[in-house]
Amino acid sequence: MKLADNKATLSFSNGSPSVDLPVYQGSVGPDVIDIRKLYAQTGMFTYDPGFLSTASCQSAITYIDGDKGELLYRGYPIEQLATNCDFMETCHLLLYGNLPDVAAKTAFVKRVSNHTMVNEQMQFFLRGFRRDAHPMAIMTGLVGALSAFYHDSTDINNPEHREISAIRLIAKMPTLVAMAYKYSVGQPYMYPKNELSYAGNFLHMMFATPCADYVVNPVIERALDRIFVLHADHEQNASTSTVRLCGSSGTNPFAAIAAGVACLWGPAHGGANEACLNMLEDIQKMGGISKVGHFMEQVKDKNSGVKLMGFGHRVYKNYDPRAKLMQETCKEVLAELGLENDPLFKLAMALEKIALEDEYFVSRKLYPNVDFYSGIVQRAIGIPVGLFTAVFALARTVGWIAQLNEMIGDPEYKIGRPRQLFTGSVSRDVLPISKR
Ligand code: SDX
Repeated sequence: MKLADNKATLSFSNGSPSVDLPVYQGSVGPDVIDIRKLYAQTGMFTYDPGFLSTASCQSAITYIDGDKGELLYRGYPIEQLATNCDFMETCHLLLYGNLPDVAAKTAFVKRVSNHTMVNEQMQFFLRGFRRDAHPMAIMTGLVGALSAFYHDSTDINNPEHREISAIRLIAKMPTLVAMAYKYSVGQPYMYPKNELSYAGNFLHMMFATPCADYVVNPVIERALDRIFVLHADHEQNASTSTVRLCGSSGTNPFAAIAAGVACLWGPAHGGANEACLNMLEDIQKMGGISKVGHFMEQVKDKNSGVKLMGFGHRVYKNYDPRAKLMQETCKEVLAELGLENDPLFKLAMALEKIALEDEYFVSRKLYPNVDFYSGIVQRAIGIPVGLFTAVFALARTVGWIAQLNEMIGDPEYKIGRPRQLFTGSVSRDVLPISKR
C-alpha cells in the first residue's frame, strides 16, 4: 500500500484538537484512513460492529468490486479462471500468486496427491458421533483433530511448516468430507485413488463402494471442479476473518482452519446453500411456483423473519459473478443427468426472475449470491443437502490458508484484539447475600 497525497482531518465540535490521519491507497478499490493511532491521539475508538466500513488488513489475494459484480483471484477474473483453469491451478494461484506452468502444475498436483490419506486413527473420531450428526459438526472436530497428528509442522511462524500444512489441509479435506458422508450412510470409507483428479477423487471417495468399480463422469467431475474454483476465496468474509483472527494468536494452522469451518457453518454465510435448498423444497411442498408470490410476501414482511436464502450480500450490490457461473454449471449438470425439468431449478429461476423485478429487492440491491444455485447442482450430483456446507469448506480451505499465510508473512500483523463501547454498569460494591 502507498501513502495517498490526500489525508483525513478529524475535527470535533466540542473544540477538542483536530487530528490528521494518513490515507493509504491500494492498487484498486477504496482508499483507507489509517486510524491505528486514533486512540492514542484522541482517547476514542471507532465504532463499526459488523465491519461495514473497516479494512482489517491489506491483502493481495482477492479483489471484489461489489458495485460492478467483479471478482478477481490474484488479478484474474473469476469467469476466466472458471473457464480456463482447474482447481489445482487455482490453488497454486491463491497460495503462490501465479498460475503454474505445466511442470509446476504437475509437481503441485503430485505433492497434493501424496497427502490425500489421513492417519488411520482419524476414523475413530467419527465413531464418537451419532450417524445423523451434522457433517459440519464432524468437520469442525476432524479438522481441529488433524493438529494432533502433525507435531512436526504446527509452528505457524515457520514457513516450511505453513507450506506442508497447506498441502496437507488441501489434500485431506476431500477425504474427511467423504468420510463424514460415508459415516452418515453406514458405508465403509473409500481410500483416495491418486491417479484420479482432485474432483474425481472426491467423487470416488463419496460414491464408490468396495463392491463395484466406480467410473467418474467427466461432466460431473468438471462441474464439481468448477464449484471448487468458485468457492476458493472471497476477500475478508466472516470465516476468512475468523481464520485470520484465530491465527493471529499464533495457534497452529489446523486449529485456525477449524475455526473457519465453524464460522462458515452459519446460515448467513456458508450454511446458506443448505438453507436455500431447504427453502426451495419447502416452497415446492407448499405448491411450487404457484406459491412463490405468497412466499415473497413473507420475505418482505419484516416480522416474518423469512429471508430469501441465497440472495443478498454484504459486498455485492450487483449480481454475484459466481452465481451466474453456478447457474450455467447447474444447466450443464442437469442436462447431462437428464434432469432439465428439475422442478427445484425451475422454481429457483422463477424466484430469481420475480425477485429481480420486485422493488423490495431492487431497492435493496439484493441479487442471487454463490449459494443460490450451488445446492441444486450438488443435489443433482447426489451430494446430500447436509453436506453442502462441508463441500464449501473443502473448497474454501485453500483461500483460508492463503489469507492466513499472507497475514503471518505481513510484518505489520499483530494479535487481533478489538475494543468496545461499554454500556454496562459502572463500578459498584458487592452486597452480602443477606442484603441483596
Ligand atoms: C456467503 O462475505 C462473503 O463474501 C460471503 C460469501 C463468501 O464467498 O465467503 O460470499 C458467501 O456467505 C454468501 C451469503 C450467503 N447468505 C445468504 O444467502 C443468507 C441470506 N442473505 C442475508 O442474510 C444477507 O443478505 C447477508 C447476510 C448475506 C448480508 O447481510 P447484510 O450485508 O448485513 O445486509 P442486511 O442484512 O443489512 O440487509 C440489508 C437489507 C435489510 O433490509 P432493511 O433492514 O434495509 O429493510 O436487505 C434485507 C435486510 O432485511 N435483506 C434481505 C435478504 N438479504 C438482505 N431480505 C430478504 N432476503 C434476503 N436474503
